[in-house]
Amino acid sequence: MSVSSHTIYRKDYRPYPFTIERVQLHFALEPQHTIVTNTMHVIAKEHNATMVLNGEDIELQAIYINGKALTSYEYSDNLLQFKPSETEFDLKIVSSCNPSANSTLMGLYVSGQSFFTQCEAEGFRRITFFPDRPDVMSEYIVTIEADKKQYPYLLSNGNLISSQDLDNGRHQAVWHDPFLKPCYLFALVAGDFDIREKTSHTRSGREVLLQIYSDKGSGDQTLWALDSLERSIQWDEKRFNLELDLDRFMIVVTHDFNMGAMENKGLNIFNAVYVLADPETATDANYMGIESVVGHEYFHNWTGNRVTCRDWFQLSLKEGLTVFRDQEFSADMAARLLPPEAALSARTVKRIEDVTHLRAAQFPEDAGPMAHPIRPDSYQEIGNFYTMTVYEKGAEVIRMQHTLLGEEGFQQGMQEYFRRHDGQAVTCDDFVNAMESVYKARHSGKDFSVFRHWYSQAGTPTVNVQLDYDTHQQTASITLTQHCDKVGVEKLQADMEKKPFHIPFHIGMLNQAGQAIPLNIEGLEDITPTLQNGVLLDLKVPSQTWVFKGIKERPILSLLRDFSAPVSVIYDYSFEELAVLCAHDSNPFARWEATQELISREILRLTQCIQEEKSLALNPIIHQVWQHNLSDPLLDAAYRTWILALPSEKVLLERLHPITPLALNKALQFVRQSLATVHRDVWISTYQHYHAQEDYQPDPISIGKRSLKNLSLNYLLSIKDPEGIALAKTQYQQAKNMTDRMGAISALLHYADKADTETINQDFYQRFENNPLVMDKWFALQATSAQSVKTIRTLMDNPLFTLRNPNRVRALLFQFCMNNTEAFHQNNGEAYTFWAEQVIALDAINPEVAARFARVMDNWQRFAEPHKTQMQKALQSIAQQTALSKNTTEIIEKALS
Ligand code: ARG
Ligand code: ZN
Repeated sequence: MSVSSHTIYRKDYRPYPFTIERVQLHFALEPQHTIVTNTMHVIAKEHNATMVLNGEDIELQAIYINGKALTSYEYSDNLLQFKPSETEFDLKIVSSCNPSANSTLMGLYVSGQSFFTQCEAEGFRRITFFPDRPDVMSEYIVTIEADKKQYPYLLSNGNLISSQDLDNGRHQAVWHDPFLKPCYLFALVAGDFDIREKTSHTRSGREVLLQIYSDKGSGDQTLWALDSLERSIQWDEKRFNLELDLDRFMIVVTHDFNMGAMENKGLNIFNAVYVLADPETATDANYMGIESVVGHEYFHNWTGNRVTCRDWFQLSLKEGLTVFRDQEFSADMAARLLPPEAALSARTVKRIEDVTHLRAAQFPEDAGPMAHPIRPDSYQEIGNFYTMTVYEKGAEVIRMQHTLLGEEGFQQGMQEYFRRHDGQAVTCDDFVNAMESVYKARHSGKDFSVFRHWYSQAGTPTVNVQLDYDTHQQTASITLTQHCDKVGVEKLQADMEKKPFHIPFHIGMLNQAGQAIPLNIEGLEDITPTLQNGVLLDLKVPSQTWVFKGIKERPILSLLRDFSAPVSVIYDYSFEELAVLCAHDSNPFARWEATQELISREILRLTQCIQEEKSLALNPIIHQVWQHNLSDPLLDAAYRTWILALPSEKVLLERLHPITPLALNKALQFVRQSLATVHRDVWISTYQHYHAQEDYQPDPISIGKRSLKNLSLNYLLSIKDPEGIALAKTQYQQAKNMTDRMGAISALLHYADKADTETINQDFYQRFENNPLVMDKWFALQATSAQSVKTIRTLMDNPLFTLRNPNRVRALLFQFCMNNTEAFHQNNGEAYTFWAEQVIALDAINPEVAARFARVMDNWQRFAEPHKTQMQKALQSIAQQTALSKNTTEIIEKALS
């Protein structure tokens, strides 16, 4: 692995030697030539220090100190430097930029007819010269001036102080944000919008104005987002004791956005896909995505904005914590109003979704060339570190602290964190210190010293489980042994020894009939009882044994219940043991896990058979389990969908050494078809049972019914069942909501013959041609069902396709390369060449999105031939380009090292 000269290290952090108390910004907005005047009130903290300001892709026009032109400064490599002679002064810098030419979508840019900004992580330097780092916090006063007709709304953070008309049809607005903030939370929006608004009251009775600004004509699609915002506000008050600190909270929609959304203080900017929804155009998954992202950005107001990051290595301080909070919000919303059993099931479904996402995307990252601890030690380009690891594994690390402390202790730790750090820019250690202070008090001095290794080490640990049952003594000894290989940059550090992790490991035991065995924890250490007769084992050393007494028969182990730690479990189950867990485990998460483990083993075995050209047959135990779960009356539809579904292909790929994508794909198809054929009549009756034409509601019960119905359709169409095809066509035609319409068209396009689907495919296009979010769905459907690269090239010629819109690029190119195994991994390697071409083309337009796309090949070294060599060639062809961005360079360099 090369250590590039661009690498930035966490250990090199130094405080900024100046305070910038106040920032007054003046924007004269013109799409092609915007002039920014930035007046900063500066106080030196150190004697004789050099002032260093970042600036990128902007034109410097003038610098003044206390009104006098400054002439002695240095300006090169995007850094502006000078030595001020006074210790307190006004620094005024005038610069210009071209927002309409800004296709990076960082800094100030034009999308549609409007102006937007994106400053996190390092976009503010593309707006004005400034110390673009999160530990420089200031008060902002922003004046925006623009043409009134084109840009009737002029928005920035905080409160509107004044607005007035100017000459020449222009007008201006002045905004003041009373809270100190780092520049990455700055935002500006100018344009014409539909507005949906509502006044609401916070717990203390303060009136707040909640507003959603969206493109003209889309105002009737913002109801769910506004409701979600209000629910987020109430939830944060109730569960975290945190109240909104602003009088006005705005969300603005843009169609061009590199990521999901951005938590700018008081002025969140959102990718349209996480705001706009109505039943005809948005799926259940879209509705849930909106609720969780609206929550996420709102929760940042405390975890991110009131307490922010000292430097970007601490990104998980705000992201891991805020993802944990949005996951809990979604779970609480799903469980709300349900009786206890149903509530547990709804929470479990949310947990299953999150864990599946983690395993499908974060586990591979943690095993590949970009592997990094949730708090990285180095990076070349911070834009590349908005990763699954920082976000999702970061959330798991917070969740483990929640598990160790319990809800009450965790909330106490949160209060302590805010008591210590409100208004500051801090580190992950500061957070753990606050939590540890509560843990020590509650657990007689035990500390988090081992737990902290989750912050400093990368990789997914494995936990090997050994059961020794002694018939005479009636004891069951459980030995947990952890291991984690060096990954990513760790491999470069010869003297680094991996230390053990603190792993809260939640288990239960069942007898052979499937009943829970109560566990006696008397005399045992590092153990806590949990629900469903389980216990939490606290593994903090390489290996530890717990001996349980009074166990009358050899127990069946229910392991890592609720996924209590982000680890992989190794245990030698028999098929019969797994089948008992699949039908009886009282922990619904572990019961789902058992179904996945059982069928995964079978799929992997069949993959091997395909490689060896042996004949294929499915173990009858699988059929028994599926039959049982298809008809278990105690299970609700949402949960049943998950235990009847096949594991994610991505999760399975991770378990192959080497990766043989086409063989795995065939094995998956074979299993799907056998389950469809054998249980064909039950799938039909399940479909009919859950196919109701009710008014659309995005609640967990209705969502569950639709998902089980659509799963049934998928199984049926995998064997091209004529009745199934007819049902799908009717469902498409009569659909009153997008979930039904998508469920039908997706099953048809992926499984039925082209002759059966062409009319419907065209109908979908024509029906929704004018809705970009639905057209993204259409492009994604084509991308995942295409049979060759040629189809994708043709789709790129469609007038609706453009490389400049990230949502469209994700819909077509990412979907093809990440979710169409059969066509992407064709043995001729053509698709890999295509991928390389598109990475290069995209890199010239939008480095952040290109670098994300470049990661498609992260794990090329683990693929079997001919894929491996072909992938390497594709990577090398990118590496040979001369003008690659820093973003893409880092990814390609690491992949090839
Ligand atoms: N802080 C945002 C969020 O997680 C993500 C913004 C990152 N933006 C970017 N261009 N890298 O909610
Ligand atoms: Zn976030």
